[in-house]
Formats: sequence, structure tokens, C-alpha cells
Amino acid sequence: MTAPLRLGIAGLGTVGIGVVKIIRQKATLLEQRSGRPVVITAVCARSRDKDRGVDLSAYGWETDPVALATRDDVDVFVELMGGHDGPALEATKAAIAAGKDVVTANKAMLAIHGQALAESAEDHGHVIRFEAAVAGGIPVVKALTEGLAGNDIVRVMGVMNGTCNFILTKMENEGLGYNAVFDQAAKLGYLEADPNLDVGGIDAGHKLALLASIAYGTKVAFSDVELEGIGRITIEDIHQAADMGFRIKLLGVAQMTGRGLEQRMSPCLVPAQSPLGTLEGGTNMVVIEGDQVGQIALRGAGAGEGPTASAVLSDVLDIARGIRVSTFGVPARSLVAAKPAASTAPAPYYLRMALMDKPGALAKVATILGDAGISIDRMRQYRHDEPSAPVLIVTHKVTRQALNEALEALDSTGVLTQTPVSIRIEDE
Ligand code: HSE
Repeated sequence: MTAPLRLGIAGLGTVGIGVVKIIRQKATLLEQRSGRPVVITAVCARSRDKDRGVDLSAYGWETDPVALATRDDVDVFVELMGGHDGPALEATKAAIAAGKDVVTANKAMLAIHGQALAESAEDHGHVIRFEAAVAGGIPVVKALTEGLAGNDIVRVMGVMNGTCNFILTKMENEGLGYNAVFDQAAKLGYLEADPNLDVGGIDAGHKLALLASIAYGTKVAFSDVELEGIGRITIEDIHQAADMGFRIKLLGVAQMTGRGLEQRMSPCLVPAQSPLGTLEGGTNMVVIEGDQVGQIALRGAGAGEGPTASAVLSDVLDIARGIRVSTFGVPARSLVAAKPAASTAPAPYYLRMALMDKPGALAKVATILGDAGISIDRMRQYRHDEPSAPVLIVTHKVTRQALNEALEALDSTGVLTQTPVSIRIEDE
């Protein structure tokens, strides 16, 4: 019989327990698919006494993840603790030094330390795999590294934080403000321990930086991701964007341009009827454009026990089958430093402003936009409701710089009652 693949699992939260359950329930299937038994040698978590609803008595127990990662009877260290530094990083480094392969769901650790970890693992002939780190159950890492390996990647775009999509769609569907829905998300346990990782766009930014590295053969450059969270999105914007045929999404876009690598994670308007526009609740979607394949869309659960554990098992089975793909699709030492794009590609923008009811007010707005070279595609003014009227404008493509200059000029006209709001439109 082929020797079993022996796992050491660190972290017995939702995902860790999901992995244990799959391995217990599907032992025969996993062995048939990989050609060898996949077994758990030992596990590790903060508390041994906690009832996790699964019998763990057959497995060894370690209180120290480093001890687990370096056990002689562990082949693969499965890191499901989270956190970009601290025990997760220490144990992952120890596992690599001890000659183990690593499977992790830790996007934060890889976004910050992935290059060094991958170099170190590959120098010693080991692999680090991270399907579960990006978009939960969606096999997007595999799609980019394997399924689309014959393509030059034109663009990677997607909604990769389910919590933000839950908040934005619930605001729209129930007509609630941001704070009310944020509180509901917190009560439902959807938010990370540090909620800013979700609503500040950081979690999704980590994921985008990892995908950009695979797509473009560049070193992970999380610090170059232009990041903006969803905290400024109001129910007025959601309603009025809908009125113009759009929905607001926390959207990540990575593309290599003549100006360098553009990586941004920010609220954007997308057409309401587009695949991204119809995405509800905690679902994720990644849209990849390859020069040969054209556009493909992958949609599914971005978090949760079953979906994330499913992604972990995909990596574990690859290792069991002897499939050893470089962490970022090409050997880590051949990844090049990306030149960050100095500016983002021009795009249409949605502008919302509150206009005073006086003659010439709208003309002033139009003049300022015209003087800045900004052409109006569509415009709508709503009835005056003391003391001002909402005005929505959809522009043709414009650079962020020209738009910022126009917004500054608009602010000083004296015809607006509030600072204008602008949100990029991603409609291609
Ligand atoms: N907090 C993430 C999300 C899941 O809401 O999508 C893990 O990355």
C-alpha cells in the first residue's frame, strides 16, 4: 500500500473542524482520488477542552503549533490559525525548515510574507499551497495557475469579501443604513475579529494581491494595492446608483497596463444586470480575462466551514497525488518586482451632489465639468426638497486627476450644499 499522507492541523476553528470532518467522512473517496490514504496525525488549538462537535481522540494533540509543525510523523502542516505574524508565521517557518509541505488559508500571512516563505520552501523542494486563502470555496488559485496557464492574463476582477457584499446587498434590499447592517453582520458573526479587515477592504486586498502575483508573475505587492473600504457608502448612494442602473460592490481589479501594475480594491458601480451586479449576500465572484480564453466567471461561497475546507482538501489532495505547483505558479525566485501603476486607468464615474435651488446652479456644475474636459454621459436631477436637490451625473471616461480637480472646483462654487460624492464605474 502507498504510504499515507500525514497531516498536522493547526487551528480548530470553523475551517479546521470542516477539514477534520471531510477527512473522516470521505476517507475512501479521498484515497481513491489521490491513490493513498490521507490521515490526520495530530492537531493543535488553544483549548483542548472545548467541545467542537467532533471526536478528536484518535489524533495526537499539541499545544504548541511549532511542535506540531516539526513532528517527524507529519508530512503536511495545515495552517488554519490565521494572523499575519505570531504563531502562524512562526510555525509555518518551522514546518518549512523541518522539510514539510504547507497548506494554508492565511491570506494575510501570504500577502505580507508569501515571497520569503515561498522562496524558502521552494529552495528546499517543498510547496506552500493556499487555495482556501482566496475566495473560500472557489478554486480560483487552481484556475489561474493551472486551468489558464496557457493564457496571458488581461485582467482579474472580483468581489472577494462576502461580509462587505452581505452589508451592501442588505442595505439595498432592506433600505437600511450602513451602521445598522454593520451591527447585524457583527451579531451574525460575519465580521473578522478586527472588522476593519473586512469593511476596510484589507482582507479582500490581501486576496487580490495574491491573485495578481499569480496572474502577472510578480512578487506579491500588497502595499501597492490602492485600498478603500465601504464605510463611506450611504443608503442614498445605493438607491440612486440603482436608479441609474447600477449596484455598488467592493470590487478588486488587477491589471498590467503600460503604466505598470494596477491593483485596486474599492467600492465601484457595476451594471445591475451584469454577473457581478447580481451577486447577493456573502457570495464571492472572480472574473478572469485571458488572452485566449476570453472572460470566465467563477462564483460561489467565499467563506464558511464546508466551502473553505473544500479548498483546503483540494491542496491536500494535490500533494497526495504528487502534484507540486509553485506557490505563485512560477518558481518564487523568478517572480519579478512589479512597477506599481502611477495612476489608475480612466473610467466613467458616478457623481452625486446636492444642488441649491437657484438660477444658473446646474449651468455652473456643467461648466466646471466641461472646463475639466469631463463629458457628461447621463444626468438626472430630482425634485427640490428644501434646501437642495440631488443631482446624479454619470460621466464618460475621465482620469482620477481630472475628476479630483473638478470636484475641488465644484466644492468652491457655492451652489452645492454638501461635498460631492464620486464612485468609479467598472462596466466592461
Ligand atoms: N471575512 C472574509 C469574508 C472571509 O467576509 O469574505 C475570509 O476571508
